[in-house]
Amino acid sequence: MDHNTNNETSRRDFVKQTTILAGGIMAAPLFGGANYFSGSSDEIKVALIGCGGRGTGAAMQALQSKENVKIVAMADAFADRLEDCYKTLTADDLSDSGITGNLKAKVDVPAERRFIGFDGYLKAIPFADVVILTTPPGFRPIHFEEAVKQGKHVFMEKPVATDPAGVKKVLEAAEIAKQKKLNVVVGLQRRYQNSYKEMFKNKHLIGDITSAQAWWNNDGVWVKKRQDNQTEMEYQMRNWYYFVWLCGDHIAEQHIHNIDVVNWFKGSYPVKAQGMGGRQVRKGKEYGEIFDHHYVEFTYEDGSILNSQCRHIPGTMSKVDELLVGTKGVIRCNDATIKDAKGKLLFQFDTKNEPNPYQTEHDELFAAIAKGQYKFADAENGAKSTMTSILGRMATYSGQVIAWDKAINSDLDIMPKKFDWNAPPPVLPNDGGYYPIAIPGVTKYV
Ligand SMILES: NC(=O)c1ccc[n+]([C@@H]2O[C@H](COP(=O)([O-])OP(=O)(O)OC[C@H]3O[C@@H](n4cnc5c(N)ncnc54)[C@H](O)[C@@H]3O)[C@@H](O)[C@H]2O)c1
Repeated sequence: MDHNTNNETSRRDFVKQTTILAGGIMAAPLFGGANYFSGSSDEIKVALIGCGGRGTGAAMQALQSKENVKIVAMADAFADRLEDCYKTLTADDLSDSGITGNLKAKVDVPAERRFIGFDGYLKAIPFADVVILTTPPGFRPIHFEEAVKQGKHVFMEKPVATDPAGVKKVLEAAEIAKQKKLNVVVGLQRRYQNSYKEMFKNKHLIGDITSAQAWWNNDGVWVKKRQDNQTEMEYQMRNWYYFVWLCGDHIAEQHIHNIDVVNWFKGSYPVKAQGMGGRQVRKGKEYGEIFDHHYVEFTYEDGSILNSQCRHIPGTMSKVDELLVGTKGVIRCNDATIKDAKGKLLFQFDTKNEPNPYQTEHDELFAAIAKGQYKFADAENGAKSTMTSILGRMATYSGQVIAWDKAINSDLDIMPKKFDWNAPPPVLPNDGGYYPIAIPGVTKYV
């Protein structure tokens, strides 16, 4: 996160400036402009790309920030997902979402600004000052690249890619976003959470970090059943969690949060990884191709080790946490404590009234944009922590020691060549409906 606040201008100049930097007329919207329809001058217009669970939540958080935010365009691959999201955002009563009253006055998305299909993002982005990218992660590099090209500020969810080719695309766009002074926040919300921020400030109390552990162990997530008349592409898009090109496997999709905390506290990224994993319980065809457990040993340049474990197996120990061990003590993230090597408490953060970090991300992003500040450049770290989790996946799928440099330069590109409901996705089931699964010792990932 870059907290450069030197570059204050008025918001209107800021939005104008970023549009010019984005290439003047080239950045002019195809279907309208950020100011094409009515709205007050301090209004911050948002396009939501990917209107599922997190997209709906992120849109609500954007609308609940103190700034004058309006959702003006929405895009989703599927009409039903978009309409459900629209209904939620414009509901009279949002008490189920913990919101008093409603947000509907801030949702100005008539039918002509709701875009369906793979190219919906191209049509929605031009209407916005800020783009929220909350599709499955496989699409993030393409969507982020386009948002930056069009000179938009971005909130995007983690992970930001599912393969090294996608990571490199995000890194390239991140550089351009910096040049254009576009604020970019990535939804690694522990970086916006007070307990973590305070532990980070006090991490000197444990000396040099020599090892770490990270866990995301729980039961797993939803399954979307195959429906009659679905093409293979539609089935995989609906059941996206279980396909590596869309999801990255759960080591990337969820465990990235914990891996990113260790990268953050270490101030670096691993140079190599080796590990093991497989599908021990979640073996049915409805679970696509991902593993149900991974255990990875990541090594940093200074020789320190991160032992990372993630598991989706019901009935086993649940734990989502990080532990950092230093030359003088230990940080336990869930407990929000720092203790010395003998167990004496040196620091305790009181998490009782901690603000919701999902809300904080949006409060800070929109406050910066409203003030015309360039404050957030999360994309580079988002890409490198995504790469860390992909490195772990390459290690568990192959069973080999994988070096960071080799992995990122591998040109592994697992995305489809064509986005179309009738096009073949990159992995196909056999006659029995089962997908090929990585086999350590056989699968080659680099
Ligand atoms: N930070 C967090 O704690 C957190 C929590 C939940 C989810 N997430 C992330 O948010 C992202 C979305 O997860 P979710 O739980 O909302 O999933 P979801 O399935 O509920 O929503 C994804 C939406 O994107 C749509 N979509 C798919 N491909 C698209 C495309 N090419 N263009 C437009 N729309 C497309 C889907 O139809 C769906 O509506 C994931 O990257 C996930 O990791 C982050």
